[in-house]
Amino acid sequence: MDRIIIRGGKRLEGRIPISGAKNAALTLLPCALLTDEPLTLRNLPRLADVDSFGHLLNQLGVSTTVEGAKPDEFGRVMTLRASNIASTTAPYDIVRKMRASILVLGPLVARTGEATVSLPGGCAIGTRPVDLHLRALEALGAEIEIAAGYVKAKAPPGGLRGGTISFPFVSVGATENALMAAVLANGTTVIENAAREPEITDLAECLIAMGAQIDGLRTDTLTIEGQPRLHGATYAVMADRIEAGSYACAAIITGGSLDLIGARKDTMPSILSGLADAGGIVEDVPNGVRVRADGGIRPLSISTAPYPAFPTDMQAQFMAMLTLAEGTSLLTETIFENRYMHVPELARMGADIEVRGRAAVVRGVDKLLGAPVMATDLRASMSLVLAGLAAEGETQVGRVYHLDRGYERLEEKLQAVGADIERASDG
Ligand code: UD1
Repeated sequence: MDRIIIRGGKRLEGRIPISGAKNAALTLLPCALLTDEPLTLRNLPRLADVDSFGHLLNQLGVSTTVEGAKPDEFGRVMTLRASNIASTTAPYDIVRKMRASILVLGPLVARTGEATVSLPGGCAIGTRPVDLHLRALEALGAEIEIAAGYVKAKAPPGGLRGGTISFPFVSVGATENALMAAVLANGTTVIENAAREPEITDLAECLIAMGAQIDGLRTDTLTIEGQPRLHGATYAVMADRIEAGSYACAAIITGGSLDLIGARKDTMPSILSGLADAGGIVEDVPNGVRVRADGGIRPLSISTAPYPAFPTDMQAQFMAMLTLAEGTSLLTETIFENRYMHVPELARMGADIEVRGRAAVVRGVDKLLGAPVMATDLRASMSLVLAGLAAEGETQVGRVYHLDRGYERLEEKLQAVGADIERASDG
């Protein structure tokens, strides 16, 4: 198994290209199921999850071709074509590896009238049920049956029909499934208490490019006028705000300055204000954002919540940064019940963190010391990389496959701005 080896203490300076957003890519890929015409996605990140999603779609009968990007483009270009749906079943061995597989449910039922998708089950950060996804489809007339670990959804004769979907609380994934189902339903659908994450807006814009009619973008009420069919389109995946935020933390924690090329400030309001509150300077640069340290790190009080509030996907990285703050920070995780697996690992590097239920008290220390560490999820692993970049001595981060799920060419991007980081293989 691979490890990432970091010799910390280097100030990072330079430009980092920001890749296409993983969480946007994983909801744009299943849009291919909604039409028999080709959907071309540009700026797709080169990530294990994107490949896995491609394989899942292949199993459902979607053809995928990958071409190189133009010289001035990062990322990959994939053309997907679902001329015929060969299977409407997403099997357990794929879904258990990638929770986002549940996002084929809505589009499959909408296009073919039925879908059978394995229940994803829990994961390292919490129980993560899918009841809201199912309730959304029921509100559009689908019949849902759960048996042997699978969800079976069946549209009424004549297909899904528009309806009102009122979510009791905000769910990104359920909003995505609801939106992808509603665009092909008969009549009007209203989604109330919809998630407003920028990835939802990216999805809505791609669907609109495919001929969907959606009103209320960027608000918590989406109104969809169902269409008899959608057509093909070409769409570029938005820049990854979480990747950009993670490298911004790398700039601050190493006392450096990084230009995040391609990062979109409008999608990162609470991340950028958090960085500024921590004492960072955030500036515009052509086609991106510069984040630089300006003296010490100030402590923060942050609570994760749905967009536009502070994202749960940035909690671990901010925590790493705040371990070196001049004072005590308070982090509260309100989205997931078990998202502090990085805490004991950061503690092994000298951090002073106390978890009390959903809150974590982070008392700033003078320095971190390198250590062998490993985490059980993607963002937690990134927090260990950040700590390693600032720590004295060598840090080895194990279970690199977590990082490969969400950070494209991590070592390459960090080496280019002065980090002493490499990947080692245990053979
Ligand atoms: C969540 C995050 C998203 C992040 C992703 C991966 C929020 C609102 N969502 O999205 O930003 O990128 O994790 O870390 O911050 N829930 C149910 N029933 C459901 C669906 C969800 O109870 O059917 C609960 C979840 O357990 C969780 C909350 O709702 O406590 C929000 O979950 P949801 O937004 O659906 O999760 P993801 O789509 O995975």
